[in-house]
Amino acid sequence: MPRIKDEVIDEIRSRNDIVDVIGSVIKLKRKGANYFGLCPFHNEKTGSFCVSPQRQTYHCFGCDAGGNVISFVMEYENYSYPEALRYLAERAGIEIPEAEETPEEKREARFKGRVLECLKDAAIYYYKKLYSPEGRIGLEYFRNRGLTDGTIKSFGLGYSGKGRDQTVRYLKSKGYTDKEINAAGLCNISEKYGMTDRFFNRVMFPIMDINSKVIGFGARVMGSGEPKYLNSPEGVVFDKSRNMYGLNVARRSRSPYRIVCEGYMDVITMHQAGFTEATASLGTAFTSGHANLLRRYTDDIRLTYDSDAPGQKALMRAIPICRSAGLSTKVIHLDPYKDPDELIKAMGAEEFRKRVEAAENSFFFELSYIERSYDMSDPDGRTSFQNEAARKLASIDDELARDNYISGVAEKYFIREDALRRAVAIAIEKNERSGPSDFETRPHARINNDRAPSDRSHAADGQAAHPNEGIDMAERYLLTWMVDEKEVFEAAKNYLAPEDYTDGINREMAQKIYEGYEKGSISPADILTGFVANDNSNEASSVINTPLDAVETPDDRARALTDLVIKIKEAALNRDAGIDDGTDPLKKAKQIKHALTELKKIKISL
Ligand code: UTP
Ligand code: MN
Repeated sequence: MPRIKDEVIDEIRSRNDIVDVIGSVIKLKRKGANYFGLCPFHNEKTGSFCVSPQRQTYHCFGCDAGGNVISFVMEYENYSYPEALRYLAERAGIEIPEAEETPEEKREARFKGRVLECLKDAAIYYYKKLYSPEGRIGLEYFRNRGLTDGTIKSFGLGYSGKGRDQTVRYLKSKGYTDKEINAAGLCNISEKYGMTDRFFNRVMFPIMDINSKVIGFGARVMGSGEPKYLNSPEGVVFDKSRNMYGLNVARRSRSPYRIVCEGYMDVITMHQAGFTEATASLGTAFTSGHANLLRRYTDDIRLTYDSDAPGQKALMRAIPICRSAGLSTKVIHLDPYKDPDELIKAMGAEEFRKRVEAAENSFFFELSYIERSYDMSDPDGRTSFQNEAARKLASIDDELARDNYISGVAEKYFIREDALRRAVAIAIEKNERSGPSDFETRPHARINNDRAPSDRSHAADGQAAHPNEGIDMAERYLLTWMVDEKEVFEAAKNYLAPEDYTDGINREMAQKIYEGYEKGSISPADILTGFVANDNSNEASSVINTPLDAVETPDDRARALTDLVIKIKEAALNRDAGIDDGTDPLKKAKQIKHALTELKKIKISL
């Protein structure tokens, strides 16, 4: 498909007024400079969905969905990026000229193709190695875990060999450049050792996209050792939030539902047992990106997570994500086994099928999870639990569904139905009263639930413990503030460069803001376009929708800005300190210490 030129995209974007487009499908009410309505991307009664005519963006303070008119149409109509552009172009009467690929784009596409080839060759190499004498140990490992040769073949499992750089040497001999091997995530590079294999002496699980192209690897130690699984880094071809393990097969399954689990081995064992509708998120928490991906194939999800505490907690996070993507969800119980792999091994496929059929409605699962934190033998404990249940019931928008759930809950928990019904009515009334008025002023921004702070799904539970969270928030505050006020940008840029922001969306956003202001002014909606194209709209939107509370007086403002600048710069300096750039470490430490002391003295005025 020919690419559409950036200028044309900007024109399409700017000739479709966001209030018109969203207002034609959602009832919007003006409040001050903005419009508010009920968010179409999650169930709510309060109207946290805000559309800004000035910025030409939207943002939901309830679920953190956000973006510009293009991402709105993508999300709302379930269009791909090019489809959304075509739809909006037509709506505004713009003809899209057939664009030639620029040389830059051609080069990028070619490079990506080479990286994919490199990954494929590596997968073949690992697979062959598994059946060589050197790979005996890996093959035995898989056989001990009950995998057949057919399964090994269809998942392309392999073994990565023992040498320090044999894979790298092999790939070089096949003509791949250092840059290509590195972009494929197959090596480590250090000054001391040069280019070495990222994966060695591990059994290899190639990760494929939905078209069965290898985009990365999960690699397990045989036996114990840390980390248990080493995964490919994200890069030009590997994006964890847009891919799922086994989905290349699971998407073709005839089953009306899809089974979502946590582990590579769970997927493989389930497929071997005939459950080819199983898929897993890739060593990260389940995100709305995964939910949207699944929605292409089904609207019925059966979740089967580890039965230990972190697994259950991860379930509690995944359920609302599925729900707000419009997926109906059930929970498969595994007890007394830890995961589907163990259950199937111990009890066989038939027992697992029974469990899948007996999957619990996710609403009841959530209630019984909540129930555990109350003392149900105490009348007060029971009352608190019942009130919480009533509030949860009140959040069900569909009246008939709510009614059925009220009956179900009353029966299950031995609550008098009429009493429960009244409690739910009161909760609904409360919601409505405290509803829209909450949003006269912008509430304190929340952190997007989808952001998994580490590579492990279970680790995603300890969000507050994420060491970079403070910095991330500080950066978001400042980025939001700079978008809103050029004056703040002018003051901050004397101390901070885009490189001082954390690598990733924040830094990219800073770059765009700096570029824009340096040219004169910025357009938040156009800034978001680049993120929309890469499916990062929601996250990018929340980065520039994180306003500071209560900074009104000039003094407050100056102090807040000074604090933010110091915090961000300090983190940047500390990051620098950890990078070995060839400077004498002692000298460098001194320089950084000096810079930090100087930094503490600054005072910015606005
Ligand atoms: P588990 O620890 O539950 O492992 O992690 P598992 O899948 O049951 O693996 P086996 O049966 O011991 O071989 C669940 C998933 O979390 C990710 C992997 O995707 C794994 O399949 N994970 C786990 C990592 O990415 N890194 C780790 O160190 C551990
Ligand atoms: Mn397991």
